[in-house]
Amino acid sequence: EHAAPLDARGRHLHDLRISVIDRCNFRCPYCMPEEQYPRDHEFLRKAERLRFEEIERLARVFAGLGVRKLRLTGGEPLLRRELPVLVRALAAIPGIEDVALTTNGTLLAAHVDALREAGLGRITLSLDTLDPDTFRAMSGGRGEVAEVIAAIAAAERAGFTRLKINCVVMRGTNDGQVLGLLEHFRGSGHIVRLIEYMDVGTCNDWRRDLVVPSAELRARIAARWPLVELAPNYGGEVARRWAFADGGGEIGFISSVSEPFCGDCSRARLSADGRLYTCLFASTGCDLRTPLRAGADDAALAGLVGAVWRARGDRYSEARSEATAAQRERVEMYSIGG
Ligand code: GTP
Ligand code: 5AD
Ligand code: SF4
Ligand code: SF4
Repeated sequence: EHAAPLDARGRHLHDLRISVIDRCNFRCPYCMPEEQYPRDHEFLRKAERLRFEEIERLARVFAGLGVRKLRLTGGEPLLRRELPVLVRALAAIPGIEDVALTTNGTLLAAHVDALREAGLGRITLSLDTLDPDTFRAMSGGRGEVAEVIAAIAAAERAGFTRLKINCVVMRGTNDGQVLGLLEHFRGSGHIVRLIEYMDVGTCNDWRRDLVVPSAELRARIAARWPLVELAPNYGGEVARRWAFADGGGEIGFISSVSEPFCGDCSRARLSADGRLYTCLFASTGCDLRTPLRAGADDAALAGLVGAVWRARGDRYSEARSEATAAQRERVEMYSIGG
């Protein structure tokens, strides 16, 4: 019997983020810069990726250890064919209360009805700016703002009335356009979340001076629209919630650099090739695919995952310093989906 494990800092395992593919049709410079990921870059081969039945199997094991929320990520998860088939299987797992998707939106319109019907509960879209030129600069020249806007409309029609819109803010690139983005979504019911540029992965040439601390951004926003703070929805929530005082809706600040939130981090991450990572900034993951394919039973897999979680001491963002930021061994964001 495997009771819900606590990690070395007393944190629960509540949330599993599943990367279904390491490929992406974007080349955002903060994640997967074009120079380092040209079109012929070798990503995982099909046989290396977990099959849907394997993902479902592991998700059941995680649910047995306390996981209640699943989030599908990539790369770009909609590059994986038949994603609604996976969603349906995951949504049916006992204990799973919430299945969500993080996507850049370019492929969403074609699949959103099927995803909804399969039981997808929530969608988070990435949209860094409404300005077409800045958008291209931040997507590596792939995709168009108009496609993302169309995807949002399609999602609304399919019944996803409360989307989260993630915006990575980089000083000198899109920070001047944040108010325009907020203005666009004010009153829509969607929640824009402003994310501090993070030193994830090893290839984005992160510099602290490119981070716009949330407090600075919040002051700029409040000068235009007064804000009031909201209580967290749940313990360990990534975003700090604020609302426009005039009733224009909610915005979020994800401040991993200026106000780290490792204290009650309950998130585990599974890469497309079946490695378990206990932190966004981990250097290595625990291979679950090998035992899975060697025929390990659920109890053995639960024992393995539970042992990894109990040993977990990660608190990268809290411990962040110039030394850790220079540490050159870190899993790439696109292989664990952020
Ligand atoms: P909800 O279930 O809606 O609360 O989703 P979420 O906010 O946990 O997920 P989402 O994928 O929207 O997270 C937004 C962004 O926050 C990610 O893309 C990351 O950039 C960042 N983020 C999420 N989780 C973590 C984390 O555990 N650590 C750090 N440092 N950043 C995180
Ligand atoms: N810093 C902050 N957020 C990032 N994301 C990707 N790379 C970074 C980074 N370096 C975010 C994207 C998307 C999610 C999948 O991860 O904006 O919303
Ligand atoms: Fe951009 Fe997301 Fe693709 Fe990374 S995975 S390149 S953040 S769209
Ligand atoms: Fe969790 Fe690691 Fe992010 Fe801290 S840095 S919140 S431990 S994923």
